[in-house]
Amino acid sequence: MGRLDGKVALITGAAGGMGAVAAEVFAAEGARVAAVDLAGCEETVAAVTAAGGEAVSLVADVTDGASVDAAVAATVEAFGGLHVLYNNAGVSLPDDDGPTTTSEETWATTMDVNVAGLWRCCRAGIPAMLDSGGGSIVNVASFVAHLGAATPQLAYTTSKGAVLAMTREIAVIYARQGIRCNALCPGPVLTPLLAKYLSDEEKRQRRLVHIPMGRFGEAREMVNGALFLASDESSFMTGQSLLIDGGITAAYTTPE
Ligand SMILES: NC(=O)c1ccc[n+]([C@@H]2O[C@H](COP(=O)([O-])OP(=O)(O)OC[C@H]3O[C@@H](n4cnc5c(N)ncnc54)[C@H](O)[C@@H]3O)[C@@H](O)[C@H]2O)c1
Repeated sequence: MGRLDGKVALITGAAGGMGAVAAEVFAAEGARVAAVDLAGCEETVAAVTAAGGEAVSLVADVTDGASVDAAVAATVEAFGGLHVLYNNAGVSLPDDDGPTTTSEETWATTMDVNVAGLWRCCRAGIPAMLDSGGGSIVNVASFVAHLGAATPQLAYTTSKGAVLAMTREIAVIYARQGIRCNALCPGPVLTPLLAKYLSDEEKRQRRLVHIPMGRFGEAREMVNGALFLASDESSFMTGQSLLIDGGITAAYTTPE
């Protein structure tokens, strides 16, 4: 028995990073997976298929409502419904910095992908989930939505805070209609999104010193949390933020 047997899951940003790992894990747990990304997810689908799972690759840009609508329609067409909406696509842009230095363009793009993009996926996905008898929305926020950083990325941090607020409101609206909605807040994981900033040792150490466990997280450790939120194991949980961060948000000082 898989933990997602009988479920159809749509995962955005599934071409790489945590989204690709999620597609493989969800499929191994019995879900049929629509893997969505800017240029599709052929490699992810090949990995799922090689492991005996079922997935389709779809092209969509979460900043384009029509392409999101089409991806949801294609998912329902391919698999007959939608039960898990894993809103994982997100960006963290190079010149995202403090309040006096972040550009208008970076601010706008970050909000468009990380906040409005997630809303567009919910707008398209919720009717399909209602038609399918309900399900679970997992919105990827971040540990930075819970604390401030003196190595700022103000647009990114603000966008992830908005994800928590949106998650709570959607959770409450649909709580009696069988749709749950929770946020996943990963700690730092060296996917391409973060690795590009932490190429030098000093920058890595600046962050590592604040992590009680003394290491970065692994994509699989975050996806384990997403799997719990996606599955019926979390059936009485909605509107919450699940932090998986090696203890960062619990720490005042860390071990020497
Ligand atoms: N890596 C970390 O340390 C970390 C920590 C906390 C939260 N997160 C969040 O986790 C999620 C996944 O991040 P990751 O580290 O795997 O990043 P990643 O950059 O490896 O993967 C993100 C994926 O999203 C896709 N994407 C970007 N813009 C898109 C758009 N407009 N439409 C569709 N797809 C788009 C990219 O093509 C990419 O495949 C993001 O929401 C990120 O903010 C990451």
